[in-house]
Parts: sequence; C-alpha cells; structure tokens
Amino acid sequence: MDEILEKIRQQFNYGPYPRHSLEQSPRNDRDFLFIHNLTTPYYLRYRQRPPQNITILDAGCGSGYKALALALANPGAHIVGIDLSEKSVELARQRLAFHQIPSYEFHVMAIEQVADLGIMFDYINCDEVLTLVPDPVASLTALKQVLKPLGIMRINVHNLYQRQYYFQAQEFFRMIGLLNDNPEELEIQIVYEIMEELADQIYVKGTWRRYVKSKPDEKSKEFILMNYLLQGDKGYTIPQLFDCLETAGLEFIEMVYWPKWRLKSLFKNPDNLPAALHLALEEASPAEVLHLVNLLHSGERLLDLWCGHPDAELPPPANGQPMVSLHPQLVDETVKKAWQEHLQGGRPFLLSDYLKVPVQGPFQQEQVEIDAIALGALWPLFEGTQSFQSLLQRWLQLYPRDLLTLEPIAEETAATMLRELLLFLNRYLYVLLTVE
Ligand SMILES: C[S@@+](CC[C@H](N)C(=O)[O-])C[C@H]1O[C@@H](n2cnc3c(N)ncnc32)[C@H](O)[C@@H]1O
Repeated sequence: MDEILEKIRQQFNYGPYPRHSLEQSPRNDRDFLFIHNLTTPYYLRYRQRPPQNITILDAGCGSGYKALALALANPGAHIVGIDLSEKSVELARQRLAFHQIPSYEFHVMAIEQVADLGIMFDYINCDEVLTLVPDPVASLTALKQVLKPLGIMRINVHNLYQRQYYFQAQEFFRMIGLLNDNPEELEIQIVYEIMEELADQIYVKGTWRRYVKSKPDEKSKEFILMNYLLQGDKGYTIPQLFDCLETAGLEFIEMVYWPKWRLKSLFKNPDNLPAALHLALEEASPAEVLHLVNLLHSGERLLDLWCGHPDAELPPPANGQPMVSLHPQLVDETVKKAWQEHLQGGRPFLLSDYLKVPVQGPFQQEQVEIDAIALGALWPLFEGTQSFQSLLQRWLQLYPRDLLTLEPIAEETAATMLRELLLFLNRYLYVLLTVE
C-alpha cells in the first residue's frame, strides 16, 4: 500500500470519524437528510424524481454516520460502504445494525479498487475523503467507472482559501515532527499545549477552538486530529477542483449548499451589481463564477458539489401530465402537524423554518411563507403526488370568488395563481414539478 494511504489507514484506525455514539441518529435533522436524499441532486439535474430501490455507495464511509443518513433519507436503498480503515468499517456495520437498516454491506477496501465489487451505483457519496487522497483524479476515475449512466456523485475537498491557516499550522506541526508516525495521544497533547500557549493575536491562533480549560476531551481530540494533524490533508481552489473533474471526465451539476455560492448575495444591492461585473458575468462559466465568489468570500470549509457523467439525459416523458409533489424530506409528522395547525388557524406558515438549505445564503436566510389558501390547496400533497389538475379543482373550491369584488374566479385565472405559487415553491425545491 502507498505510504500515505497506510498513514491514513492508521490514523482512522486510531480515531474513526466521526466519533458519534452508536445511538445518535440524524433522523430528525431534516436539512442533513435533504442533502443526503438523492431526490435533491436528481431533481436539480433532471427535473424528475429518482428511481426507487436504488444502490448507494458511501466511499470512504468512516464510522458510518453518513451511511446511516443515506439509508434514512433514501428508504428502500441498498447501502454499500467502503473504507481503508478496518476499525471504521466495523463501527459502520455496528451502526447500521443498531438502527435496523434493512439492506447494507461494508467492505475494507480502497476507493481506487471499488470496481472489484462488481456493483454499479445510482448515487455515490464521497464526503470528506478526496481531500486526503494523493491523486484525486485516479480516485474520481475509479468512482466514475461504477457510476450508472444517470447516476450522481457527491464529492468535496477542503477549500484552500478558507483553511489556509490550518494548512500553515499542519506544516508547522509536520516540521516539528508530529506527523512522522501516526499521531496519537502524545502528539494531540503537544498541539494542545502549543496552541494554548500561542499569543491570542497570532493569526494561526484564530483557528483554535477551545472546548475544555485544562486538558483536551474527546471532542477536542477529534478536532485536533482532524485539523492540525490530518494525514494527507490538502486544500484546493475551484479551478483546481474543476480541472480534476474535467480530467476524470465528469460534469458539474451544482454546489451542495448552492444558495451560499451566489455572487449576487455578496453585494449590498444584489439586483444592481456594478456594471463592469455585470458584463464580466455574462461571459463567465459556472466554475469562474464560483471562483469569483470564493475569491471575495471564502466562507465555506468545503468545495462541495454534485457531478455526473457528461451530457446525461433522461428520455423525454411520453405524453405525461404535470404532477406535483412535496420534497420527500418535507413529508414527515412534524411538518404535517405544523402545516395543519396553521391551515386550521387560517395563519400563514413559514415553510423555510422547516428546511433551511434552500434558503440559506452566505449571510442571510430568505423567508418562504405560504398563506392559508395555499396550505389548504396543497394539503393533499402529504398523501402523495397529485396532478396539477386535481390541485386546481381544490384551489377553486377554496378560493372560488375574488376577495374584493366577490365575482367568481375564472378557472384560467385560478390556474395562473396556482402555477405561480408552485413555481415559487419549486425555486426552493419545496415542491417538485414533474411530468409523469
Ligand atoms: C474524514 S473521514 C470521513 C468519513 C465519512 N465520509 C464522513 O464524512 O463522515 C475520511 C475517511 O476516508 C477514508 N479514506 C481515505 N482515503 C481513502 C481511500 N483511498 N479509500 C478508501 N477510504 C479512504 C479514511 O479511512 C476515513 O475513514
């Protein structure tokens, strides 16, 4: 095995990541599940809902917390996890068994060997891994080989600009010998002491988060290991990451936390950008725009994106009709209960309080509110997908007359109102519009 792969394996055998207890579950973390639900990137790319009974690979699964999230977010999926570290794989197996996930398998295996499994995947999650590997193009190429033609892959690397001081600190600790062997208790203690002793004005000290006063506890040990003593850790710029994608023959779909990457959101007047910038943007590729954002405001730790095979396209639907559904991650008892209370109380409902990823910009959160008529009209979506036509009939019953003139509302006018509402909610993926 490569020297660096061996170091990574040893590091994660000593401290499998993340160190969450077996009982901890992301089942109530709607935003976390929204990101791990294939519906999200699949709809962003194809404007359709994904197939059922999918097979998902968690490449570099660590202790299995995200494999668990993948299983919970995609009921019915078969989960396959691989990792270099035996200890991590063992924990991941225990975790999915503990949570009674029906269908999974884990293997001790390097990503670069994944084709040996002989399985093709609908979704590949490769989270917090590629930033460590010596040759990300080789790893991406291996993953691409096992990605189905319409499959989607989530990958990320550390943002060089955001983590610059961590990389400097890593180099510092490497120079004083802390990364020669597998860093464990002693090395963690040394980092702790040095960081504590550094004067507060020192730039690198700005990275330091102190969890305990006297000696590092479990949480701070993980923080030290994963930031100051992380084997193989490297930072990338957007152009470097997009070069890797292109060399591996993969196509960018969208950033995982896409509202945080909108250039307009960095300006005081988003709808009135300086003219020169406005002009430059017309010519810029998606990668260039993202790079511009990162140059101005490198707020994200990860350059985190979805990608797939180039030019993948779904066959056009044969004579389908317009259908409407809620994003599956909104269909749970908490949202349903709150929706019903607001509906029956005739009060507007702040849907954005329940799913924040689609509204969370770099600084501000947008608010998405729907009124009681909309709540009533869309209520059947909790039962499943509905045709636009059936929702329109319900809308007409709820809102038959103009509230001011009391004249009957024409079906065409009602259809326009409903369409506008649905398009507005669709901008945030709260509602999915499909042809089926
Ligand atoms: C920071 S942890 C991330 C774990 C998990 N993906 C998560 O986000 O919670 C990185 C994991 O990737 C694994 N890893 C690193 N390089 C790998 C490779 N080439 N093949 C397989 N696993 C690898 C490590 O053993 C470690 O468990």
